[in-house]
Amino acid sequence: MFKFNFNVEENGINENLNVKEKQDDLSTLTQEFGYFHIDDLQNESKEDEEKSRQKFELYKSDLIPNIYEGGFKTWECSHDLVNYLKSIIENYQNITTVIELGCGSGLPGLELNKSQQFHVDFQDFNREVVEQTGKQLKKEKRMYNNRMFFGDWSDLINIIPSHYYDIILTSETIYNISNYGKLVQLFDHALKPQGVIYLAAKVYYFGVQGGVRQFEEFISKTGLFNTRVIQIIDASKEKKQNVC
Ligand SMILES: C[S@@+](CC[C@H](N)C(=O)[O-])C[C@H]1O[C@@H](n2cnc3c(N)ncnc32)[C@H](O)[C@@H]1O
Repeated sequence: MFKFNFNVEENGINENLNVKEKQDDLSTLTQEFGYFHIDDLQNESKEDEEKSRQKFELYKSDLIPNIYEGGFKTWECSHDLVNYLKSIIENYQNITTVIELGCGSGLPGLELNKSQQFHVDFQDFNREVVEQTGKQLKKEKRMYNNRMFFGDWSDLINIIPSHYYDIILTSETIYNISNYGKLVQLFDHALKPQGVIYLAAKVYYFGVQGGVRQFEEFISKTGLFNTRVIQIIDASKEKKQNVC
């Protein structure tokens, strides 16, 4: 079940104040952007690793807008996107440049990264999250010169290479309509003219008003991309529909 930053209703005022203090702590620590190469990822002790995770686990909410955007959890549409990618991977024969935006644990990017033919970079809002994704690459012994970007999409437009990627992957990143402008601007900046974006998301995100239809409408107003729904996954047991 998805939950988006609803501390106020569920936890009452005291709990909420507590969260506010923690937010203040975090906001001084995480508002940064940049990138590192996977080979430069330092080996952290298990203790340090646990500390960065705990910093975010203090929160009862799945995400806190502009501070922590849910990257430590694997969201379900990323599994749908992995399955879809497996079905089309053979269509790609040549070296293909890929970036996963809002990667979190980065399952779709990790899937393509299994083949050296795909040069995959990763991006997440939080540095701690891409460090964790990088550690996964290390563990799998599949470090292929990947670049790990962290920060807000509006800042990353200055450092992510322009018109460089054949494929952009992104899963569960369109829940917040106020971020559509910067996300689409980054798509436009990073994608090659003939490139493709594979986006997986829920049809509607209750409580935050974003969703596939809203995003399609937004894109169509920009006139920048053609969109097509290529798969509808009916998660009817949970009364949700996911779309790739
Ligand atoms: C709900 S999580 C999804 C994580 C992962 N893609 C998955 O499906 O498991 C949303 C992701 O979007 C990214 N994100 C959201 N808003 C962002 C912003 N303004 N700038 C950069 N990244 C953002 C965060 O990196 C976060 O990990």
